[in-house]
Amino acid sequence: MPGATPAGSGHERMGIWRYGFDVRSDRVTQSLGDLGVDVGEQRGTHVPVLLERCLELLAPALALPGAVHVDFTLGLGGHAEAVLERFPDAVLIGLDRDPEALAHSGRRLARFADRTHLVHAIYDELPSVLAGLGRRVFHSGLFDLGVSSLQLDEPDRGFAYAQDAPLDMRMDQSRGITAEEVVNGYQPGDLVRVLRTYGEEKFATRIVSAIVKERGRERITSTTFLADLVKEAIPAAARRTGGNPAKRTFQALRIEVNGELAAVESAVPSALDLLAPNGRLVVMSYQSLEDRIVKRAIAARARSTGPVDLPVELPGTGPSVRLLTKGSEPPTEAEVAANPRAASVRLRAVERVEQDQASGPGRDRDRMPAPHGGRGRRRPGERIEGEGP
Ligand SMILES: C[S@@+](CC[C@H](N)C(=O)[O-])C[C@H]1O[C@@H](n2cnc3c(N)ncnc32)[C@H](O)[C@@H]1O
Repeated sequence: MPGATPAGSGHERMGIWRYGFDVRSDRVTQSLGDLGVDVGEQRGTHVPVLLERCLELLAPALALPGAVHVDFTLGLGGHAEAVLERFPDAVLIGLDRDPEALAHSGRRLARFADRTHLVHAIYDELPSVLAGLGRRVFHSGLFDLGVSSLQLDEPDRGFAYAQDAPLDMRMDQSRGITAEEVVNGYQPGDLVRVLRTYGEEKFATRIVSAIVKERGRERITSTTFLADLVKEAIPAAARRTGGNPAKRTFQALRIEVNGELAAVESAVPSALDLLAPNGRLVVMSYQSLEDRIVKRAIAARARSTGPVDLPVELPGTGPSVRLLTKGSEPPTEAEVAANPRAASVRLRAVERVEQDQASGPGRDRDRMPAPHGGRGRRRPGERIEGEGP
């Protein structure tokens, strides 16, 4: 019932109005049922990626009095469930843009309903979600970016090149353009840009020529048809290496359809702004484009913005976060063996510090090699973001 959304309120993209404001997990399933979401069989048996490492990094923040944990990518609720189980005083705000994921996690987390708010929202909408819940900050946060196993495994969602399905790929099937519309409707130059930029596909021009030729004959509507077309379009030698040749094209289309990079680009900085002092944020990315955006957002806050030639930090110019990981952490071999979907994950974590804690005489004024030749200083013993992997 999109008509329930107050026009111009800024909440149009969120499900917050759609489900009533305070979307408790015990009400989500029914509300989503009203919207036509078929919950079907209960899901959520997959292993949450780097679960123990995430909990270890977030624990000091989750133990803060009145801790609010934001799960920006609730998915099937695996990470959220572990947080609620191990931290009985923590309150969860769980966001997801996929109504089906919310329905499943809503059921899974029903026993924690009195301290759970599940919200249908894109994660860059956190500022209005928090404001709507009467909160100014949160203490612990997790982004587990990418696609959920529900989305990958559900045959009709169109994310997987190995299963025949309509070319959809929308994480929120109630709005936005589908992959079919992108493949059949984009100008060739725009399609090449999408495949090159988001898929790092070096055969983008050949693939797009094949797509344009084919769509001139008949509309391209299925995942396996597109996957076969891509395979045929690339040189025979390249077909034999590097996994399924359609992988990069599918990744690129998924990113375009869901505007994924733009959402990460705005969501991570705004999350860092809303993190309480001593609060902690963990971000897990699954491809280099996302990880690069996360790395830059963190680096911008991990260094001073004050004049390099002053012996003291000016108020408000010190770093606002402390790095908890050295560069980005890959999974361990054991983790990948137990959970193959963790193979490409890279984890970064930070803690919010009071900017002025770092200011004052006697502070180390060593010059930090800031990105782009900019300004910045290193705190004693602090690792430089970007060192390491
Ligand atoms: C990898 S899954 C999360 C899995 C989850 N940690 C668990 O334990 O089940 C990523 C989830 O993020 C959601 N998502 C992706 N982009 C989003 C965005 N921009 N805003 C909100 N949710 C998003 C997807 O719909 C998906 O359910």
